[in-house]
Amino acid sequence: MQLRRGESGRSTVLNRAKFIFSAITIGLCFSASPGWAQQAPPLSSKAEHALQKTQDPWWKHAVIYEIYPRSFQDSNGDGVGDLNGITSRLDYLRDLGIDAIWISPMYPSPLVDFGYDVSDYTAIDPLYGTLTDFNRLVSEGKKRNIRVIMDFVPNHTSDQHPWFKESRSSRTNPKRDWYIWRDGKEPGQPPNNWQSWFGHSAWQLDPATNQYYYHHFYTEQPDLNWRNPEVRKAMYDALRFWFKRGAAGFRLDAVSRLFEDPNLHDDPILPGKNAYGDPNISHKYTDNLPEVHEVLREMRRAAEEFPGNPVLISEADEPNIAELTKMYGRRNDEIQLPMDFQIADVNKLSAPDFRRLLNEIDKNAAGGQPHYFFSNHDQPRQWDRYGDGVHNDQIAKLMAALLLTTRATPLMYYGEEIGMRTTDPVRKEDVQDPIGKIGWPQEKGRDGERTPMQWDTSKDAGFSTADRPWLPVPPSSAEYNVKAESQDPNSILSFYKRLLRLRRSEPALRDGKYLPLDQDNQYVLSFLRKAHGKGDSILVVLNMSAEPRTIKFALDAQGVRESSARPLLSVPKIGPEETVLTHFTVPAFGVFIGSVR
Ligand code: NOJ
Repeated sequence: MQLRRGESGRSTVLNRAKFIFSAITIGLCFSASPGWAQQAPPLSSKAEHALQKTQDPWWKHAVIYEIYPRSFQDSNGDGVGDLNGITSRLDYLRDLGIDAIWISPMYPSPLVDFGYDVSDYTAIDPLYGTLTDFNRLVSEGKKRNIRVIMDFVPNHTSDQHPWFKESRSSRTNPKRDWYIWRDGKEPGQPPNNWQSWFGHSAWQLDPATNQYYYHHFYTEQPDLNWRNPEVRKAMYDALRFWFKRGAAGFRLDAVSRLFEDPNLHDDPILPGKNAYGDPNISHKYTDNLPEVHEVLREMRRAAEEFPGNPVLISEADEPNIAELTKMYGRRNDEIQLPMDFQIADVNKLSAPDFRRLLNEIDKNAAGGQPHYFFSNHDQPRQWDRYGDGVHNDQIAKLMAALLLTTRATPLMYYGEEIGMRTTDPVRKEDVQDPIGKIGWPQEKGRDGERTPMQWDTSKDAGFSTADRPWLPVPPSSAEYNVKAESQDPNSILSFYKRLLRLRRSEPALRDGKYLPLDQDNQYVLSFLRKAHGKGDSILVVLNMSAEPRTIKFALDAQGVRESSARPLLSVPKIGPEETVLTHFTVPAFGVFIGSVR
């Protein structure tokens, strides 16, 4: 996870806090929730049938959709979203064309970090519902072919977790070693200079035993000691608990932070200060230590005890392709889908930058499946991050096309399909996210990208009937909402739906080879998704500039015989006269997806 800050005005929003970090259950679990294989509904189309027939695991062709449960749908009028709310919106997700949802943590938690501070790994927080509600979500999901992926927070617990309460109770408690406890360097001095991602020292003195504990994130999120075998066992058992209840996989939070240098070397200091006023440092001794991969292999083995090809997705902000590739594991035995933060954070419409990164990951040495996204609950939304302030809706469609036509498993974030925008709090007293409280005004926190889903124009956009939802509904909901956009064929939502349908109906778009084209073009990103076998290939042309552009494609070497492409989806509309391959014209920020033979 990386926090970027330091710039003022719009760019502060653009670059602000970026946290990276960055089955389907069968077998034993019938009692809790019947297995996926038993519940799958009849296939709805020929294309889906072909999809099912391939040998590939389901996650290779899935479109995953992240739900921030506090903000999706409130079913009981308390102002906070919940599991039954999500279940009530499954039809919407099915109609949109989603294959799996990843739900950010909904475990019991004091909510200091809104669920990323877990106080019980094997229960549901009453705020979000019950285990029965979870079971119902999984089984209703199955009826609609939508799998449920959970969030797992292995790096740290809440300080209210019974394990930590025991651990802090005495130096000799059997759970003492489940966390990272050290003596201060000298009285009043933390053990070394390590810093929390959320500001200030990563060490907290616990006066009861006069030792410091380590917390990579908030003080209330003490780090577990992954060198302790009992910790590993307890955590793998927690994974098993949810696999048995029908989880299709996990998104693993902050996994590159699991280990710290046992010799406590100081991290190198870098020039400048961060948004919290601390000196910048390189997290050399607390990030990406080699033992991380041993744990990832063990987690993968735990997942593979269950049928249905469970998936592991990692949050980890890998700085380059070599590091990202390591996440797949030397024998492809670690993470199936490492989230690609490099693509997410290009942060400008740059055809050369996207091309270079897409080319690199496509050829990754592990042969791993790329996993792209542009927005999540830690990043300002893509509508404003990539928008130019004038053509944001068109650019939102361009970004959708980029996400959903490349060779990858795409990950969407709730609301991106309707063009939700980042709506930061304007007053410090309204901030919910503690990093916004600590870092205000430079760091406004992550509330802006977590506002309630905008369903319609009724009170609070149909999200909640409470007097006040936990975060205010943005004013943009009057225009940008599911109901209004469903009725408008030119809306962002209608574009996403068409695109998702095309992804299902065109085998080349789903699993064709990725062949970059016209590679010196500074403005237009274009590529072919080459069909395996005889089918049509798909030409994708994305104009990332504010001017129309003309391209001379020569696709003979790629096996294309015809002289024109047949439009399947274009916006603004591109007529047949513009799709002659040797004189192909694409409007400003235009998207063209067409078939070629
Ligand atoms: C990454 C999560 O995405 C973020 O929301 C959270 O604050 C940190 N990890 C700590 O768990």
